[in-house]
Amino acid sequence: MNVAPSITPSIISKVPVMSEITFKAIREFIYTLTGIYFQDNKKYLLESRISKRLQALHLTQYEDYFQFIKFGVKKDDEKKFLYDAITINETYFFRNEPQFEIFEKTLMPELIKIKSSNPRPKIRVWSSASSSGEEAHTLAMIFLEKIKPKYPALEFEVVGTDISPSILDIARKGVYREYSVRNMPKLYLEKYFHAEDGRFIVNDNVRKLVRFDHMNLFDQPRMRGMLNFDIVFCCNVLIYFDAKSKIQVISQLYDSISRGGYLFIGYAESLHGISSAFKIMNFPKAIVYKKE
Ligand SMILES: C[S@@+](CC[C@H](N)C(=O)[O-])C[C@H]1O[C@@H](n2cnc3c(N)ncnc32)[C@H](O)[C@@H]1O
Repeated sequence: MNVAPSITPSIISKVPVMSEITFKAIREFIYTLTGIYFQDNKKYLLESRISKRLQALHLTQYEDYFQFIKFGVKKDDEKKFLYDAITINETYFFRNEPQFEIFEKTLMPELIKIKSSNPRPKIRVWSSASSSGEEAHTLAMIFLEKIKPKYPALEFEVVGTDISPSILDIARKGVYREYSVRNMPKLYLEKYFHAEDGRFIVNDNVRKLVRFDHMNLFDQPRMRGMLNFDIVFCCNVLIYFDAKSKIQVISQLYDSISRGGYLFIGYAESLHGISSAFKIMNFPKAIVYKKE
């Protein structure tokens, strides 16, 4: 279920109040569309976020917004703004270091060994809730720094997808603030970025390995087309879903992973009661789910 940060009372006081009926209708609409569920105690958050769309569209009531997004001629365009409004995009480079260490030292060498008989070995990784791309770019940098020198013939591709169109614009540009790079080892910052006007820009040789695409994890036809990934990262997004939504997403990700491939989820997330299809691999500071 949604766990959203709190906002200050001064912000709350400026936004119009949403009726209970409209709250439930909009909440259900968002849940069906995205799997994100706003609990009763997060009504103020939905009000605050949708009130900005009311202003932008010159609407005065949430009821009108609901009609607009459900039946309006421009409903599909508005959905993109809604996705931006309701998502929480917190992320940064090297966010979960133990996972990246396992990726580099255990999973990549094992996958490379399996693929060694292939004349053109390739490893494909999917950052499935990529936000502004820090996770995807971290993986590409680790590949360039640690893997490529040992296996120059290996091809490597990272696909980053997210539901929020505006966050993907940032990912594609690869321009970051200091906040995003605060956990980054100095070597990576110096070697794979250049600084401009206080921003940190990812170098082209990293960006060449990564492709970003818009994707809702609940868009079943699109999800069915995401196949043959060796490793999938689905980190810090399951916390926004209820059990039913988690089961749906994880079962589709299972199909996206090749046999012998792996799934990472967030540090605070669990597949307990969600899926028993994966083999659980326990490492000292992280868990990896293997598709056997
Ligand atoms: C907190 S960020 C996590 C970013 C990154 N994976 C990490 O762990 O640092 C969660 C991301 O999930 C995305 N998201 C939420 N619901 C989604 C959905 N139904 N489909 C795809 N992405 C979704 C949000 O837009 C947001 O960028």
